[in-house]
Amino acid sequence: MASVVIKQGKDGMRWFHSTDDGVVSFGVPAYANKVVSVAGAGDTVLAAYVSASLAGNTPQTSLWYAALAAAVVVEKPYTSTVTWHEIEMRNPNVRL
Ligand SMILES: Nc1ncnc2c1ncn2[C@@H]1O[C@H](COP(=O)(O)OP(=O)(O)O)[C@@H](O)[C@H]1O
Ligand SMILES: [Mg+2]
Repeated sequence: MASVVIKQGKDGMRWFHSTDDGVVSFGVPAYANKVVSVAGAGDTVLAAYVSASLAGNTPQTSLWYAALAAAVVVEKPYTSTVTWHEIEMRNPNVRL
């Protein structure tokens, strides 16, 4: 029972999980409207995914939050930070 996340830059991300019955998978897009700096985007994804998971979210929801977090940081210059509030502002369907 292993899970992996493949980070694919402008093509978003895809999550894979192997079970006894086969492999399940889902993808999320890159939500950025304009890319200013991708520095630290992968680290942001990891931090947001783990934080969301530890808060009790499903892998799918956690990956979605991570994708929204990445979109926020790539639209900022240099390496940057993102808050849960910014993620929430990015998509009104987010319930943190
Ligand atoms: N060129 C890009 N255009 C749009 N979004 C990007 C781009 N590069 C990174 N991102 C965003 O940041 C996330 C993580 O970046 P990625 O390049 O996949 O990670 P890493 O650099 O660690 O391999 C992507 O899934 C996407 O949401
Ligand atoms: Mg990259």
